Amino acid sequence: MARITVPEIKSRKVAQGDSPVVMLTAYDAPGARIADSAGVDIILIGDSMAMVVLGHPDTIHVTMEQMVTHVAAVASTKPNALIVADMPWLSYHLDDADTVRNASKLIRAGAEAVKLEGGQSRLRCIDALMSAEIPVMGHLGLTPQSINRIGGYKVQAKDDDAAKLLIDDAKSLSSAGCFAIVLEAVPKRVAEEVTRAIPIPTIGIGAGSHCDGQVLVFHDLLGLSDRVPKFVRRYANLADDAIKGVSNWAADVRAGVFPSDEESYN
Ligand code: KIV
Repeated sequence: MARITVPEIKSRKVAQGDSPVVMLTAYDAPGARIADSAGVDIILIGDSMAMVVLGHPDTIHVTMEQMVTHVAAVASTKPNALIVADMPWLSYHLDDADTVRNASKLIRAGAEAVKLEGGQSRLRCIDALMSAEIPVMGHLGLTPQSINRIGGYKVQAKDDDAAKLLIDDAKSLSSAGCFAIVLEAVPKRVAEEVTRAIPIPTIGIGAGSHCDGQVLVFHDLLGLSDRVPKFVRRYANLADDAIKGVSNWAADVRAGVFPSDEESYN
């Protein structure tokens, strides 16, 4: 199967008859193998790793070094899916040279594109990344790296002014050359309007069914995290299965029936 590329994703619009983009986060080699074997289009090494893997209360605690390590783990599996890495908080907020240097570390670790949060205030840094031949995915609506300013994980763009600003931001990111835009926690009708307004795919999370694709966090989808936001549908309960498996093993060890002779070197 041909590897999925940035231009292929960039051209996908459901309105023109294309199939929706499927993006899932993964943070390590086993997760990447599962996502790729299931046939997702994009594997995102998201900064949600801070919360679902590293146990932090928000995404702003993950560092460049941690992202690089996990991008390399995902890339080592050589997936068919496109590999996109989140630029962590403060890796693109200082100056353009710093932004490009940080993005280049993610690319050298195996990412094929980066994702960053924000609208028109990010145009300069998107331009710098594009000049360095680094494809950029945008992220609008609820931008978790702004959690301290926003004051909570709330639905965004609820009134007309905020919706208009979001649509303008999406048009600006598209004109700046972004190949796709994540829309997080925005009303369905606003996501639909954005999707109609731009020629690149929108990928929704908590943004309803009118986007050109959907993204979920691996641990939420598979029942490996405690949190179940409204927009998550759980397709498995891996934590329950894992607890059952470990409990059975512990019981066998305590009962003296593990390991068996077949499981030993004679
Ligand atoms: O970090 C992440 O997992 C993300 C997705 C929720 C889009 O940015």
